[in-house]
Amino acid sequence: MLSENLLKHINEQVNFEFYSSYVYLSMAAYAESVDLSGFANFFRVQAQEELAHAMKFYDYIFQKNGNVTLDTIPKPEMNFESIIDVFQKGYNHEQLVTSKIYKLADIASEEREHATMSLLNWFIDEQVEEENSFNSLLKRVRRSEGNPAAIYMMDDELATRVFTPPAPRA
Ligand SMILES: [Fe+2]
Ligand SMILES: [Fe+2]
Repeated sequence: MLSENLLKHINEQVNFEFYSSYVYLSMAAYAESVDLSGFANFFRVQAQEELAHAMKFYDYIFQKNGNVTLDTIPKPEMNFESIIDVFQKGYNHEQLVTSKIYKLADIASEEREHATMSLLNWFIDEQVEEENSFNSLLKRVRRSEGNPAAIYMMDDELATRVFTPPAPRA
Protein backbone atom coordinates (compact mmCIF):
# COMPACT_ATOMS: atom_id res chain seq x y z
CA MET A 1 0.00 0.00 0.00
CA LEU A 2 1.33 3.42 -0.93
CA SER A 3 0.61 6.56 1.08
CA GLU A 4 -1.64 9.11 -0.56
CA ASN A 5 1.26 11.52 -0.89
CA LEU A 6 3.59 9.02 -2.52
CA LEU A 7 0.83 7.76 -4.84
CA LYS A 8 0.10 11.35 -5.92
CA HIS A 9 3.77 11.98 -6.72
CA ILE A 10 4.19 8.69 -8.61
CA ASN A 11 1.11 9.49 -10.68
CA GLU A 12 2.61 12.91 -11.44
CA GLN A 13 5.76 11.12 -12.57
CA VAL A 14 3.71 8.89 -14.93
CA ASN A 15 2.42 12.09 -16.50
CA PHE A 16 5.88 13.65 -16.60
CA GLU A 17 7.37 10.62 -18.37
CA PHE A 18 4.61 10.86 -21.00
CA TYR A 19 5.46 14.54 -21.31
CA SER A 20 9.15 13.62 -21.72
CA SER A 21 8.17 11.30 -24.55
CA TYR A 22 6.34 14.21 -26.17
CA VAL A 23 9.36 16.50 -25.70
CA TYR A 24 11.57 14.03 -27.59
CA LEU A 25 8.98 13.41 -30.28
CA SER A 26 8.98 17.17 -30.84
CA MET A 27 12.78 17.10 -31.14
CA ALA A 28 12.49 14.19 -33.61
CA ALA A 29 10.11 16.29 -35.70
CA TYR A 30 12.58 19.17 -35.71
CA ALA A 31 15.40 16.85 -36.83
CA GLU A 32 13.17 15.51 -39.64
CA SER A 33 12.41 19.10 -40.70
CA VAL A 34 16.12 19.82 -41.20
CA ASP A 35 16.75 16.50 -42.98
CA LEU A 36 18.70 14.86 -40.19
CA SER A 37 16.90 11.52 -40.19
CA GLY A 38 19.53 9.80 -38.02
CA PHE A 39 19.07 12.42 -35.29
CA ALA A 40 15.31 12.03 -35.75
CA ASN A 41 15.71 8.29 -35.20
CA PHE A 42 17.69 8.94 -32.01
CA PHE A 43 14.87 11.10 -30.63
CA ARG A 44 12.15 8.68 -31.71
CA VAL A 45 13.91 5.92 -29.76
CA GLN A 46 14.30 8.33 -26.85
CA ALA A 47 10.54 9.00 -26.97
CA GLN A 48 9.89 5.23 -26.83
CA GLU A 49 12.19 4.93 -23.82
CA GLU A 50 10.24 7.61 -22.00
CA LEU A 51 6.98 5.75 -22.70
CA ALA A 52 8.58 2.65 -21.20
CA HIS A 53 9.51 4.71 -18.12
CA ALA A 54 5.91 5.92 -17.80
CA MET A 55 4.70 2.32 -18.00
CA LYS A 56 7.21 1.19 -15.39
CA PHE A 57 5.66 3.63 -12.88
CA TYR A 58 2.15 2.79 -14.14
CA ASP A 59 2.66 -0.95 -13.58
CA TYR A 60 4.25 -0.32 -10.20
CA ILE A 61 1.18 1.59 -8.98
CA PHE A 62 -1.02 -1.45 -9.71
CA GLN A 63 1.50 -3.84 -8.16
CA LYS A 64 1.15 -1.77 -4.99
CA ASN A 65 -2.63 -1.90 -5.22
CA GLY A 66 -2.98 1.81 -6.04
CA ASN A 67 -4.97 3.61 -8.71
CA VAL A 68 -3.48 5.25 -11.75
CA THR A 69 -4.68 8.79 -12.43
CA LEU A 70 -3.96 10.08 -15.91
CA ASP A 71 -3.77 13.81 -16.51
CA THR A 72 -3.41 16.17 -19.46
CA ILE A 73 -0.02 15.99 -21.16
CA PRO A 74 1.39 19.52 -21.57
CA LYS A 75 2.28 20.75 -25.04
CA PRO A 76 6.01 20.38 -25.68
CA GLU A 77 8.16 23.20 -27.03
CA MET A 78 8.28 23.00 -30.83
CA ASN A 79 10.66 25.83 -31.69
CA PHE A 80 14.33 25.01 -31.94
CA GLU A 81 17.07 27.21 -33.35
CA SER A 82 19.55 24.48 -34.19
CA ILE A 83 20.55 20.93 -33.37
CA ILE A 84 22.78 22.37 -30.62
CA ASP A 85 19.71 24.07 -29.13
CA VAL A 86 17.89 20.71 -29.25
CA PHE A 87 20.61 18.90 -27.29
CA GLN A 88 20.98 21.77 -24.83
CA LYS A 89 17.24 21.58 -24.13
CA GLY A 90 17.38 17.76 -23.99
CA TYR A 91 20.20 17.93 -21.46
CA ASN A 92 18.32 20.53 -19.38
CA HIS A 93 15.24 18.35 -19.54
CA GLU A 94 17.07 15.28 -18.24
CA GLN A 95 18.47 17.34 -15.35
CA LEU A 96 14.90 18.34 -14.49
CA VAL A 97 13.84 14.67 -14.64
CA THR A 98 16.67 13.77 -12.24
CA SER A 99 15.49 16.40 -9.77
CA LYS A 100 11.98 14.93 -9.88
CA ILE A 101 13.26 11.39 -9.34
CA TYR A 102 15.35 12.65 -6.39
CA LYS A 103 12.30 14.35 -4.91
CA LEU A 104 10.37 11.07 -5.18
CA ALA A 105 13.28 9.23 -3.57
CA ASP A 106 13.29 11.78 -0.70
CA ILE A 107 9.60 11.11 -0.03
CA ALA A 108 9.99 7.31 -0.30
CA SER A 109 12.95 7.40 2.02
CA GLU A 110 11.18 9.64 4.59
CA GLU A 111 8.30 7.16 4.56
CA ARG A 112 10.71 4.17 4.69
CA GLU A 113 8.93 2.80 1.60
CA HIS A 114 11.70 0.40 0.66
CA ALA A 115 9.98 -1.17 -2.37
CA THR A 116 9.51 2.27 -3.93
CA MET A 117 13.11 3.13 -3.12
CA SER A 118 14.19 -0.02 -4.96
CA LEU A 119 12.18 1.06 -8.02
CA LEU A 120 13.61 4.57 -7.77
CA ASN A 121 17.17 3.26 -7.50
CA TRP A 122 16.72 1.87 -11.01
CA PHE A 123 15.63 5.34 -12.17
CA ILE A 124 18.49 7.05 -10.32
CA ASP A 125 21.00 4.86 -12.21
CA GLU A 126 19.10 5.40 -15.46
CA GLN A 127 19.33 9.19 -15.01
CA VAL A 128 23.13 9.02 -14.75
CA GLU A 129 23.12 7.43 -18.22
CA GLU A 130 20.51 9.82 -19.59
CA GLU A 131 22.34 12.95 -18.48
CA ASN A 132 25.68 11.58 -19.62
CA SER A 133 24.35 10.60 -23.05
CA PHE A 134 22.79 14.04 -23.63
CA ASN A 135 25.79 15.91 -22.31
CA SER A 136 28.25 14.02 -24.50
CA LEU A 137 26.07 14.44 -27.60
CA LEU A 138 25.73 18.14 -26.77
CA LYS A 139 29.51 18.47 -26.61
CA ARG A 140 29.88 16.65 -29.94
CA VAL A 141 27.35 18.82 -31.80
CA ARG A 142 29.01 21.92 -30.36
CA ARG A 143 32.40 20.76 -31.61
CA SER A 144 30.86 19.98 -35.01
CA GLU A 145 29.36 23.44 -35.42
CA GLY A 146 29.96 24.72 -38.97
CA ASN A 147 31.26 21.31 -40.06
CA PRO A 148 28.49 19.58 -42.07
CA ALA A 149 30.63 16.46 -42.67
CA ALA A 150 30.93 15.88 -38.93
CA ILE A 151 27.19 16.40 -38.44
CA TYR A 152 26.35 13.92 -41.21
CA MET A 153 28.72 11.39 -39.71
CA MET A 154 26.88 11.71 -36.39
CA ASP A 155 23.59 11.47 -38.27
CA ASP A 156 24.66 8.10 -39.75
CA GLU A 157 25.73 6.88 -36.34
CA LEU A 158 22.48 7.92 -34.63
CA ALA A 159 20.46 6.24 -37.39
CA THR A 160 21.53 2.88 -35.95
CA ARG A 161 20.06 3.40 -32.48
CA VAL A 162 17.32 0.85 -31.70
CA PHE A 163 14.88 0.71 -28.84
CA THR A 164 15.58 -1.94 -26.22
CA PRO A 165 12.80 -2.25 -23.65
CA PRO A 166 14.00 -2.02 -20.03
CA ALA A 167 14.01 -5.34 -18.16
CA PRO A 168 10.66 -5.99 -16.45
CA ARG A 169 10.55 -6.03 -12.67
CA ALA A 170 10.41 -9.43 -11.09
FE1 LIG B 1 12.41 9.01 -18.27
FE1 LIG C 1 14.97 10.42 -20.03
